[in-house]
Amino acid sequence: MLVGMCGIVGYIGGRNAQEIILDGLRRLEYRGYDSAGVAILDGPGLSTVRSVGKLAALEARLAKAPLEGCLGIGHTRWATHGAPNEANAHPHTDAAGEIAVVHNGIIENFQALRTQLEADGAVLRSDTDTEVLPHLIRKHYQGDLLGAVRRTLEEVRGAYALGVVCAQEPGVLVAARHGSPLILGFGGGETFIASDVPAILRHTREVCYLAEGDICRITREDCTITDGQGKGKTPEIVRVDLDETSAEKEGHAHFMLKEIHQQPGVVHHALLSYVDEKTNEIRFPGLALAPELLASLSRIVLVACGTAWHAALVGKYLIEEFAQIPVEVDFSSEFRYAHRVLDAETLVVPVTQSGETADTLEAVRIARRQGAPVMAVVNVPGSTIAREAGGVLHTQAGPEIGVASTKAYTSQITMLALFAIYLARLRKQLAGEEVKTLLGHLRGMPEKMQWCLAQEAAVKRCARLPRYRDTGNAMFIGRGHNYPSALEGALKLKEISYIHVEGYAAGEMKHGPIALITDTLPVVCIAVKGRVYDKVISNIQEVRARGGLLLAIATEGDAQIAEYCNDVLYVPECYEPFSPLLTAIPLQLFAYHVADGLGRDVDQPRNLAKSVTVE
Ligand code: M6R
Repeated sequence: MLVGMCGIVGYIGGRNAQEIILDGLRRLEYRGYDSAGVAILDGPGLSTVRSVGKLAALEARLAKAPLEGCLGIGHTRWATHGAPNEANAHPHTDAAGEIAVVHNGIIENFQALRTQLEADGAVLRSDTDTEVLPHLIRKHYQGDLLGAVRRTLEEVRGAYALGVVCAQEPGVLVAARHGSPLILGFGGGETFIASDVPAILRHTREVCYLAEGDICRITREDCTITDGQGKGKTPEIVRVDLDETSAEKEGHAHFMLKEIHQQPGVVHHALLSYVDEKTNEIRFPGLALAPELLASLSRIVLVACGTAWHAALVGKYLIEEFAQIPVEVDFSSEFRYAHRVLDAETLVVPVTQSGETADTLEAVRIARRQGAPVMAVVNVPGSTIAREAGGVLHTQAGPEIGVASTKAYTSQITMLALFAIYLARLRKQLAGEEVKTLLGHLRGMPEKMQWCLAQEAAVKRCARLPRYRDTGNAMFIGRGHNYPSALEGALKLKEISYIHVEGYAAGEMKHGPIALITDTLPVVCIAVKGRVYDKVISNIQEVRARGGLLLAIATEGDAQIAEYCNDVLYVPECYEPFSPLLTAIPLQLFAYHVADGLGRDVDQPRNLAKSVTVE
């Protein structure tokens, strides 16, 4: 099945809803950006406006004919069912255009529901799964929007976060959540709904994360929430401490560039948060797993997708090396449909920036059902995985807006490095002095990362060389701790430049990929000083012997490598197991400057979205 993300914003209060909703949607565009729309109620008059393409197209349309009204819902879409055209854009309405719905998720049984509605005479105008919702709500509507939504949801299978308005109830906004994230935000006399916190941060910091199955009826004065069992509940309001500017670009051309530059600060912050500077004791307040359990683990399974999976691979090297525990790394999408053998001594560790990735969430649920302890490495506090996993290590990287993950990656590696050292200590695999040395290496990383960032001009010059920028294909290779770096460097370049890139373990070259080598195929090779350096040099020689075009990521001062390669980008000397924290930076900057040089939409690459919240 295709996946669906999308962003939802809704508002009820005393101010102009259109402005607030558009502003919120702008901050959620990372969730999807192929079409957008709003529905605004002005008294009993419901107006719906939708546009294909980015939010700017909708904004331009609304600038010409603004909508009045203090209640409304909006949506930015990432197409799942049906092409990205106006008919498929949200909000969707019933036949009379009186009930409007925005939806994030997938209605799995929409075909059966649609067939039934059509047999009853309804005319559906889109190819979406969502459109059945306003028609069903209309069918059940008897003067009570909340009741009609509840009855509709009883018929629905799948995942949803919903915002619903109805012309007959001009003071009511209904919201519901099951399987897709949705929050409420409370201001004085106004309430917001949104898929994510940055959408409403400039208006309020008082937030309630809806739980699975929650349905809310919101008026200007009041908000009632009922849970999945139909029981009333008081909203659990938390204050979010996020800085509003953290959702802005702060002078950088793109969020991705800003986030690349934030990395030294993110790593520094993680070390300050979790390691006692004086005693070197590592403390994880959210861990929630008994030390005895961690000391007796027989195995660890890391589950993740995409970039987080690459971070998990680095984690495997570190945990096995320091703590001597066997570690497997699984794609969440494979884990969930395989029959992995889990038990109470196997720790399952989902690694995820958003904490909402559907496959990773399902992996958490499967692991818990099978009685395995679960501890998540998560960036977004309050996310579903953060709440459902037994224990949590918060990466504290702050909101990552660029679709291409950068600071989340290095923060995940940092947390996994700390966890590896923590486990090693607990299991007596490392002495106090060794821990101190390792932490010393980690503490030195932010400064070294800063050094890497200072090389940006050199990276940009290299990325703009026609032999790299204009290539149709490329290969990234690395070994040992930097094998995952090669995979991640390849992913970064392909997802934002649309160049076809393969990431490989360097030692695998002669088992097939070396057949691709020509003098026009760039081979980016991570060759930092360390245990496998000589092996990597041999791999470089193999490429060179076949006339290959080589770009190396090497250790500062390595003059020899420049003789073998066309171009070299440097990182400072460092303790090899932590070198992926450094090599990530030139690789990210290289991808960024190639893509930017090609005029690509770096922050919102085609076909992608930031959170993959449905399978
Ligand atoms: O939110 P998550 O970390 O679970 O997301 C997993 C992947 O979708 C994500 O890492 C994706 O591969 C990156 N955005 C690519 O840069």
